Amino acid sequence: MASTAVMAVLLAGSPLVLAQTSFPSSTGVVASQTSSSAAAFVTNIQLSLDDYWDLYIGPVANASINTTVTPTPIPSSSLIPPPSLYYPSFPSGQQVPLQSQNESWKFPKDFWYGVAGASYQIEGAVKAEGRGPSIWDRLTRVPNYVVTNDTGDVANNNYYLYKEDVARIAALGIKTYSFSLSWSRIFPFGSGAVNEAALAHYDDVIDTCLEYGVTPMVTLYHWDLPLFLQNAYGGWLSDKIVPDFVAYANLAFTRWHSKVHYWFTVNEPIVFCTNYPLPEHYFTKTDIPSIQQKYYCGHNVLLAHSEAYHVGKSINASLSISLKHNGGYKIPRTNSSADAAAVQRAWDFQEGWFSDPVFLTGDYPSSLKSYVSTFLPAFTDAQKEKINGSADIYAHDAYTSDFIMAPDSGIEACTKNESHSLFPSCYNTTKLYANNYWALGPASDPGSPWLNKATDWVPAFLHYMQDTWKPRGGVAITEFGISEPYEELRKDLASILIDPIRSSYYVDYLKAILIALSEGVDVVGTLAWSIYDNLEWSQGYGVKFGIQYVNLTTQERYFKASAFEYVNMFQVYQEK
Ligand code: BGC
Repeated sequence: MASTAVMAVLLAGSPLVLAQTSFPSSTGVVASQTSSSAAAFVTNIQLSLDDYWDLYIGPVANASINTTVTPTPIPSSSLIPPPSLYYPSFPSGQQVPLQSQNESWKFPKDFWYGVAGASYQIEGAVKAEGRGPSIWDRLTRVPNYVVTNDTGDVANNNYYLYKEDVARIAALGIKTYSFSLSWSRIFPFGSGAVNEAALAHYDDVIDTCLEYGVTPMVTLYHWDLPLFLQNAYGGWLSDKIVPDFVAYANLAFTRWHSKVHYWFTVNEPIVFCTNYPLPEHYFTKTDIPSIQQKYYCGHNVLLAHSEAYHVGKSINASLSISLKHNGGYKIPRTNSSADAAAVQRAWDFQEGWFSDPVFLTGDYPSSLKSYVSTFLPAFTDAQKEKINGSADIYAHDAYTSDFIMAPDSGIEACTKNESHSLFPSCYNTTKLYANNYWALGPASDPGSPWLNKATDWVPAFLHYMQDTWKPRGGVAITEFGISEPYEELRKDLASILIDPIRSSYYVDYLKAILIALSEGVDVVGTLAWSIYDNLEWSQGYGVKFGIQYVNLTTQERYFKASAFEYVNMFQVYQEK
């Protein structure tokens, strides 16, 4: 277990940078007095881990359960499927009169299906057993950054209840669990001293999965960057992150490669890179212009991911290592050539930003490159070689789709005008058909305005992924799900547990995958987001994606109808 003494030693001799200090854009070297801010300074003061928490985060809430809980048997009454709720054209496992199974649809025997969660969203126990703060511990202290001002301090208390959580999904018949490691639990300051208690904890999470016949899948980075690395050199804005991430990945691969086959280095870099710039005055200042920050981040992600990939493969060549992409299918709003060009720009500035380097060329798509090459260093040939091919499957968190169109002013007027609101990507999106009346599918909760059920486009999307990026190990949908509209407003359990929009989303989405499989797309697995309702980042706990409801007062979990619909699709259609 990490002690405060260990942390004090860790900090000795390395300057601790406080919030108002600035750092230069390219090297990430910590410097003093480079900022126009009068408050900039560097100090050699030594802080323990507790001091660091007190200085940056302040008090944290604790759960009433704070030791690991032995799972209770899952009551058989909670495993009775709900009444038939949703009537698709083919049955989802219920006895639906006059309908029959489509015999040409099959999930192959080795197709994996599971549920996913992420450390900061579910673990809680943020200060327990030597964990260091992450940027999300800090972001949740920025007033109204999370609309509800919720924090992940306790969350689902998964740090202590993971055995119950694994037992519950196993009881439902789910054989895969995807979770992320908390980097700052393992390295409280992001690098240097290791917290042995965290390693022991994840040993047991993994062993518990194996004991229940559940395949663990591990993501190294799901947005909870160690706060110290953000403050020391700007986190993902600096190439100093590369050796720190690789050292962390090395430790994880070395420790768990014999038990964990599927690994994801980073979750959705588009999202966490677009999270830059971070709120002013809460993190170290940077000189990098706001509009460029996400591309600095993306550059360092590609370098860190690809290095980590090769380290993992050198430890165990049989591992499946990938990164999780995101974006969505891009439907041309009209058949004009301007909208076709906008669609290509949308692919380039979303999926293509990471997928083209990793699967095609080792470098950015040309439209993106012509922008970022004005300020980012070009990848060297050696870097390109490492990046190209650094993923074994094409993992996509494919929630939804959008209509894409050219900006009103036209694409060229936008690309030539840095102050255009759509610069530099210069494409526009909408959820509405060209009649400006109907949305492309039912809306999710208003807290997730980016997400509508758009399952009709899933087969086309799967074909596009396979045909464009040609992954050697197939395509996996590593997150999909929907926030049931206004679920937060339902107060009685019986109302909460029936979630018809989510149920239809899963059934229709899986049917779409069956169609794509029958047409020859190599889809290899799915992970439902999420194992249960959790901290939906800046939306707090009020926006719910879970296939289980969690009473956050008692920490009791309950299966929703969608959990059964999800599993039933495999019971009906998976080859035995
Ligand atoms: C993220 C999750 C998030 C979910 C719903 C995904 O993009 O990986 O962390 O909760 O979307 O917004």
